[in-house]
Amino acid sequence: MTTLTVTNAIIAQQELSRRLARKGKTIAIVPTMGALHEGHLSLIRRGLKKADVVVTTIFVNPTQFAPNEDLNRYPRDPQGDLNKIKQAGGQVVFIPSAAEMYPEAFETYISVENLTRTLEGGVRPTHFRGVTTVVAKLFNIVRPDVALFGMKDYQQAMVLKRMTVDMNWPIDFVICPTVREKDGLALSSRNRFLSPESRRQAPALYLALRAARRLVREGKTDAASIENTMRAIIGQDAPSAIVDYIAFTEMETLRPVSIIGKQTVASLAARFGTVRLIDNLKIA
Ligand code: PAJ
Repeated sequence: MTTLTVTNAIIAQQELSRRLARKGKTIAIVPTMGALHEGHLSLIRRGLKKADVVVTTIFVNPTQFAPNEDLNRYPRDPQGDLNKIKQAGGQVVFIPSAAEMYPEAFETYISVENLTRTLEGGVRPTHFRGVTTVVAKLFNIVRPDVALFGMKDYQQAMVLKRMTVDMNWPIDFVICPTVREKDGLALSSRNRFLSPESRRQAPALYLALRAARRLVREGKTDAASIENTMRAIIGQDAPSAIVDYIAFTEMETLRPVSIIGKQTVASLAARFGTVRLIDNLKIA
């Protein structure tokens, strides 16, 4: 098994990345907030196919949590994470402290203007500014040739892809499929907080997305009626869920569509008590 190099200081990671580049090694980055599961590990494995060295970053990024959100409750398991990364074949882990990433005088943010206004950005108005800022910093620290993100966080992937193109970072941007439990529930660090009853109901979100895709395959194109079917399924199978939104958007632009055409993604967010889940599926 490969040895794992852990860096905590920005300067140490920059130096390591420079050394790897000088040796002609390509670098893939997998940014995470830790509490790793198979979804994260699938990104690491894919990264190993695309580059010589995979740098996994673990940082629970305070700037992407609003004051009322679950920053302090966010699950942390650094030792377990290191074991999992090692087993997946990852070679480097960058785990900075909050003070390292955001020293007291910090005041520079990067934001993607329009793609962040809808969906998750509508409900969490300061969230994406934190995500883009931290990922921009991680790109500058790790200097990757390839960056891997999950389709699970569809809007995040599109926002970060836009940022990468707009900022002219020469990084191959790879979006990987959502890894799911056997019953369809998308893996998420927050699933562990679901009550047993909510956990039983939660696969209804994916069932609803699958129903949407089936309707489109059968020739249905009216988004409003597809949404009604989805709401009926969730109402029936997941009575505890409160749906924040169901949306149909053009894959890359996130523009809402009322008639389903090509490259359409159905996405949704729903709350089970205090646990908020998101999921999506390309339906056309
Ligand atoms: P986190 O939620 O830890 O997710 C890290 C990466 O794993 C993201 O690219 C996410 O889309 C991907 N991922 C999560 N669940 C997945 C699943 N079930 N299948 C496939 N991929 C999955 O997203 C973040 O952290 C943060 O916002 C971050 C980008 C690290 C910036 O702080």
